[in-house]
This record gives sequence, C-alpha cells and structure tokens, in this order.
Amino acid sequence: MRSASQRRELLKAVFEEAQGCVRCPLHETRTRVVFGAGNADADLMFVGEAPGANEDRQGLPFVGQAGKLLDRLLAEIGLERGDVFICNTIKCRPPDNRDPYPHELDSCQPYLFRQIDLIEPIVICTLGNFATKLLRADPTGISRLHGQAEVRVIGPRAVRLYPLFHPAAALYTPATLETLRTDFARIPELLAQGAPPQPEPVESVPEPAPETDDLVAAAEQQLGLF
Ligand code: URA
Repeated sequence: MRSASQRRELLKAVFEEAQGCVRCPLHETRTRVVFGAGNADADLMFVGEAPGANEDRQGLPFVGQAGKLLDRLLAEIGLERGDVFICNTIKCRPPDNRDPYPHELDSCQPYLFRQIDLIEPIVICTLGNFATKLLRADPTGISRLHGQAEVRVIGPRAVRLYPLFHPAAALYTPATLETLRTDFARIPELLAQGAPPQPEPVESVPEPAPETDDLVAAAEQQLGLF
C-alpha cells in the first residue's frame, strides 16, 4: 500500500510524461494536455469524456458549464473537488469537440489506467458513454447502465464502477438532471462499502523515481488539491 505522498510523486511523474505526449495526432491541435486534477489520494474518481475548449485553454478538467454542474452535484453530497480526482478518457481536446476516435482512446488509455492504479479509488464514476464503454470494455450504453454499481477489475485493481449520465447531457434536460441527482445521492453509500476484495497481485514492476524540473510545479498545482 502506497502512502499519500508516494501516490502524489508517482502521479506527478505520469503527469510530466503526459505533458510531452505525441502518441496520437491530437497533440498537433491541443493547447494544453488536460491530465486530470484533484486529490491523488481520493477514494472517489470521476472519468469524463474529453477536454472541451475551456479545458484545453486552462489545462484543467471540467471547468466549463458541465464542470459547474459537477461541482454543484458534489456539494449536494457534501464533497468538493479537493476530495475527489477528476479526469477524462483522453487527455487532449478533439478538434471541434468531435467524439474521440478509437485510436485516440487506445493511445491514451495507459494514462488513465496508471491514474487508476496509482490513486487506488474505491469508486469510479464514469460520466457518459465513452468512459462507461471504455472502463467496462463493453458497448452497452449509459441509458441502460446509469445508477447501477458493479465491481470491475481495471488493470490490477478491483473498483466499484458506477456509471452516471454525463453532466453535459443534464444541462438542458431536467429529467436527466433529476436522474443524475438521484444516482449521485448513492455515492456516499458506495464509498462507505469500502474497496471490494482485490485480485491476487501480479509480480510488481519497480516504480520509476519522478524527475524534478519545471513541470513539477504545475503538477503540484493540479494534483495538490484545490
Ligand atoms: N466534458 C468532459 O467530458 N470532460 C471535460 O473535462 C469537460 C467537459
């Protein structure tokens, strides 16, 4: 079991690696890599779809209208961003906010899996179809799955996966917002259940020591709580 500070240091190393990522063509059009932000020691993680224009400008996830709604929903269950970790299936904005392409999801997936591995959340809320399909490795859509928690093994960890409607889908549809609120209200109960039984660990790979350079300050800001 890693300490909170070990988690942060290791996550910073992944952050730094992602800053220079050229694994897919989105690096040509992005302004900033949107790695994710929040508490590296969080029990609760949210995985959205992809950065939009605001996120691309600021380098932070969910800073637009959908993010404001996410903040409100968190507040309704007594949480704030500093309590959770928020990221996306892909770390760079697709031009014109188009859907992520399969090869972009594939190239970015190792970052997400390392984030999950290092943060070791109890609950992962997938926001919308892309994150839900990716982390369940199944094409079933969010309308059928929202609000139904299940234990899933993701990389080396078992987590409580909890699909939710994407907040953007709830912005202008009151019925979706009501459903999202109802589903959100069950998050504290899921957290209280604690981590599910874990699979037997596979042989451990030595973890690289993080480098110290200018990016560390940026990583500190994003991973060092709000
Ligand atoms: N929508 C997402 O899925 N992610 C963001 O970061 C912002 C909007």
